[in-house]
Amino acid sequence: MMHSTNFPIGIFDSGVGGTSIWKEIVTLLPNENTIYLADSKNAPYGEKAKKEIIELAIKNTEFLLKQHCKIIVVACNTATTNAVKTLRQNYDVPFIGIEPAIKPAALSTKTNVVGILATKGTLNSELFESTSSIFKEKITIIETIGKGLVDLIENGKIISPEMTHLLVSYLNPMLKENVDCLVLGCTHYPYLIPQIRKIVGEKMQIIDAGLAVAKQTKAILEKNNLLQTSIQKGKHQLFSNSNIKVLEMLVGNQIAFTEIKKRNF
Ligand code: DGL
Repeated sequence: MMHSTNFPIGIFDSGVGGTSIWKEIVTLLPNENTIYLADSKNAPYGEKAKKEIIELAIKNTEFLLKQHCKIIVVACNTATTNAVKTLRQNYDVPFIGIEPAIKPAALSTKTNVVGILATKGTLNSELFESTSSIFKEKITIIETIGKGLVDLIENGKIISPEMTHLLVSYLNPMLKENVDCLVLGCTHYPYLIPQIRKIVGEKMQIIDAGLAVAKQTKAILEKNNLLQTSIQKGKHQLFSNSNIKVLEMLVGNQIAFTEIKKRNF
């Protein structure tokens, strides 16, 4: 299939969290056009069965392909770890995924205890299991399901007593176990960094893979001769199939030529 370099980069997530990746991509590749899908109507994916996550990932991919996206970024750890293999088998475009960044944490830790906060769907996936088993001989990995965090973010309750309560209950046990590197294994969680910092202090390293995903997107576009050649600033369309208020709150008008709309998909 022929792809014009001018065609957009397609990005999807179960909801608003993947905008943390979208921002990294738009910052690194300011001339690229993008389309972002927030499948907020079906969020969270993290508690769903693998089969359903695959069906939702296919639905999102088909929507983006109808808009002629030249590459698809699965800006969701849960969808990547459960569905990216199927997507790569079924479609002809390049896919970029995101997985919890265990390797950089394993290389950085001094206490040899690393914490991972992610969804149940990510932590229970075969892909996560096989990646983490490589490191489990050398380091201790404390895996914690961030149950409830995505729901609160989707409802705009990023700064709220409920959020503080949940974060304290997930992070205090990690502090007790001497975790010195915390991997954020969900694209919603970078929005919680200021609050996480308040709980864990300044010493713990917080690792997320957003910039690495943006760099990988650039590298794969380059490799496939798909990088935008225009020097105009890119145009961005963000669609949510639920309330767009939280998307507006997180993205606002931080980046020029950005439209946020409600759309059924
Ligand atoms: N942003 C998704 C992720 O990275 C959230 C998953 C969910 O919807 O539960 O895993």
